[in-house]
Amino acid sequence: MFVLGIESTCDETAAAIVEDGRKVISNVIATSVKEQALYGGVVPEIASRRHAESISATVDKALADAGLTMADVGAVAVTFAPGLIGAVLVGVNFAKGLAYAAGKPLVPVHHLRGHIAANYLTHPALRPPFLCLVASGGHSHIVLVEDWCRYHVLGRTVDDAAGEAFDKVARTLGLPYPGGPSIAAAARGGDPKAYKLPVPHVEGRYNVSFSGLKTAVINEVHNAEQRGEPVNVADMAASFQERIDQILAKKLLAAAADTGARTICLAGGVAANGRLRQLVNDGAQKLGARIYLPELKYCGDNGAMIAAQGYYEYQDGNLADWTLNGLPTLAINYR
Ligand code: KG4
Ligand code: ZN
Repeated sequence: MFVLGIESTCDETAAAIVEDGRKVISNVIATSVKEQALYGGVVPEIASRRHAESISATVDKALADAGLTMADVGAVAVTFAPGLIGAVLVGVNFAKGLAYAAGKPLVPVHHLRGHIAANYLTHPALRPPFLCLVASGGHSHIVLVEDWCRYHVLGRTVDDAAGEAFDKVARTLGLPYPGGPSIAAAARGGDPKAYKLPVPHVEGRYNVSFSGLKTAVINEVHNAEQRGEPVNVADMAASFQERIDQILAKKLLAAAADTGARTICLAGGVAANGRLRQLVNDGAQKLGARIYLPELKYCGDNGAMIAAQGYYEYQDGNLADWTLNGLPTLAINYR
């Protein structure tokens, strides 16, 4: 079955066709990231406007690239939560209109479930149960994926998301948005041991906290400025990246060891981070667990991951009616 996936929760307007939850037939992304970079982060109103302008052409192109028409599509899957609500609503309303007009089932997809499903696009053998770290601009969860549509959250951030921490620290260092790729690039020329950044204490064995780490970087930068000796950006980027990746990998691997997980995955924009991939890969090998990483092109927001999860939601009977609404927040195990 071909599923059309539509995604518009942040600054990517995306649509894709995926066959049987696994095979990407087409994948189209229009992003407002360059415009958002001018403001140092996502301006929700700009994101909504760009979605409204691009969504029709993006979906048309996903169908055209696949050589299909709506008659060939089995279901329309759309991200309905969580996300910037004005942005989410553009996708939801477009999907509703399209599914209604074409007489196709409408499938609601949770954004983080979509990120996890990005792994299915690359690894045909992967199936639940597995343990997954989902780290994006808005969320950092350690999740036991018990079944295609069943999740148990073991840990989460108690303050900033990992991606948000990358974005804020990048901004402090004068590096462009989005911060993750900027920090990773700057870190390549830096010494990860140059700055001694704190290891945050947090309640809960699998919870993480990044606001103290972020504040430590801000304080270092301010103190250096006051002394008239600017901070070494490459060294600070490398030190910060090393610290945050060590924390994420340690928590994920502790959860894997405790639960006896045989399979470990990464998901979300931060899963593109090379050092994090390396740390988790090495740790999984020591545990004797299989490790699956999403392809870099499917780590950030895209329509293919939504179509992939949409296929499994459809199989699970999770269909929406024409009253489907977008939601700014929603637990991953909402259903
Ligand atoms: O999943 P995503 O594309 O959108 C959300 O659902 O939020 O994640 C975006 C986040 C941003 O905060 C961005 O800085 C971060 O993912 N990111 C990275 C990297 N690439 C993107 N963080 C660390 N290293 C990267 N290479
Ligand atoms: Zn995302």
